[in-house]
Amino acid sequence: MIGAIGIGDISRVISHSPDKKLNERIGFMKSIPASLAQSLRVSGQSHLLSFLDSLNPVDYQRLVGQLMSVDWPLIRNLVSTGFTVVEEGEEDFEPPVAVRANGEGVAWSISDAEDAGVTALRAGAVAAVVVAGGQGTRLGFEHPKGMLPIGPVSNRTLFQIIADRLKATGLRYGVKIPLYLMTSDATHQETVSYFSSNNYLGLDPSELVIFKQGTMPAVDISTGLCLMAAPNSLALSPDGHGGTLAALQKNGCLDDAESRGVKHLAYIQVDNPLAQLCDPVFLGHHLLSGSEMTTQVVKKRYPLEKVGNVVRVGEKVRIVEYSDLPEHSAKQTNEDGELRFWAGNIAVHLIELPFLRRSLTQADLLPFHRAFKQVPYVDRSGQRINPSEPNAVKFERFIFDLLPHAKNALVVEADPAFAFAPVKNAAGSETDTAELAKDACSNLHKGWLERLGITVAEGVRVEINPLFALDMSELATKVSRDQEFLEDHYFCS
Ligand code: UTP
Repeated sequence: MIGAIGIGDISRVISHSPDKKLNERIGFMKSIPASLAQSLRVSGQSHLLSFLDSLNPVDYQRLVGQLMSVDWPLIRNLVSTGFTVVEEGEEDFEPPVAVRANGEGVAWSISDAEDAGVTALRAGAVAAVVVAGGQGTRLGFEHPKGMLPIGPVSNRTLFQIIADRLKATGLRYGVKIPLYLMTSDATHQETVSYFSSNNYLGLDPSELVIFKQGTMPAVDISTGLCLMAAPNSLALSPDGHGGTLAALQKNGCLDDAESRGVKHLAYIQVDNPLAQLCDPVFLGHHLLSGSEMTTQVVKKRYPLEKVGNVVRVGEKVRIVEYSDLPEHSAKQTNEDGELRFWAGNIAVHLIELPFLRRSLTQADLLPFHRAFKQVPYVDRSGQRINPSEPNAVKFERFIFDLLPHAKNALVVEADPAFAFAPVKNAAGSETDTAELAKDACSNLHKGWLERLGITVAEGVRVEINPLFALDMSELATKVSRDQEFLEDHYFCS
């Protein structure tokens, strides 16, 4: 099932109570509803109608459709509260209580956790949620990030790597794991074509739901006026990965998941090829602790690493952006030399379905964060401006802001070598590039082979498709140990 959000049936909407004065000016065929004109007036955004006269019917419909889909009271509210970044009360932060990678921190063992996770997987109670709606501006890849080739030997794309892992996990536990894949205006069409023209990457199309997240208008940093990307369009951008919540509901994914018997959602981002999607141990820790939301973390590599810091405030778990943790706190160490705030967010979460439903009943549960960005726009005369400095505020919600609202929220540490290889930056950057992610994937698999006594020559890259072996124990049953790899090798079934 592939769902898409349209801009709404505006021909039906515009037949109601047209705004008389405005419509005399723009002509009958282009009338706009009085309620829209009123909302724009009240929120001080009537300038958005200034190009209407000049638009052809198609462009006119597009613009009015966009304007109708914006929550104007919300925009008014966000603009009126200003764009100053509020300093965090650092004294409240404590390191999180966590299940460490070696299993310390809880009463049960890793193997107890694995058993609990396997039982839930076998019961078909788990679905995957992958978010792939971001614009990927730092990477500078001209297609959706999920289409980036990242397999170190195979050149499989990020989407294919996720699909293979999901299929292999389903095969191991005798179920088909539904995948809810979130896109945005920026990535939807290409993602849908990519999946449909590549045989759904081996997934069963009835287990795949591709759905689009919402958008938010960007506003001018100094005036709070919404920017126009063109005379026929607002400057819109995806509403952040926190938009997943509303988009899952709006597109019927929560009902769909429930009807399939799903209780737990395994959430990852598209840009981490090592993400341990549907890992039974992680799932088991989540289940045994009765957590409504569990987040996987890794030890930060250095104090000022640009990852969110997972902290505790009282009994609550929350994530503090790296820019909001004061430098002296970020650099604090414990007696053993470990960073006091050691837990870095890798955006791998487990979320209970009833908790999501409950969260959706509280409209403002997830706050909007403000990001200052360069957003090209057209000025009042219709001239396109490409700013060289941040000129706009974008509003985004973050999924991790759910954490403080979850009962028994849990933090579980993973070894980054097994779980984290983010693809964020363009080639040549020092961190988080595709090349570094390829190295990380190859090194992980090289480590498995070497622990089985197999030699991989220096500089040689290896890659293991999860459909060949999902983990080292499975690999042990499939390869003979007296081997040596002198050239790059891809293990696939
Ligand atoms: P990032 O915040 O790293 O953004 O998203 P990005 O789009 O990948 O890259 P930049 O910042 O523009 O360079 C982290 C994950 O969240 C998803 C992205 O697709 C990525 O998987 N995401 C982000 C969404 O799905 N929607 C959004 O609105 C934002």
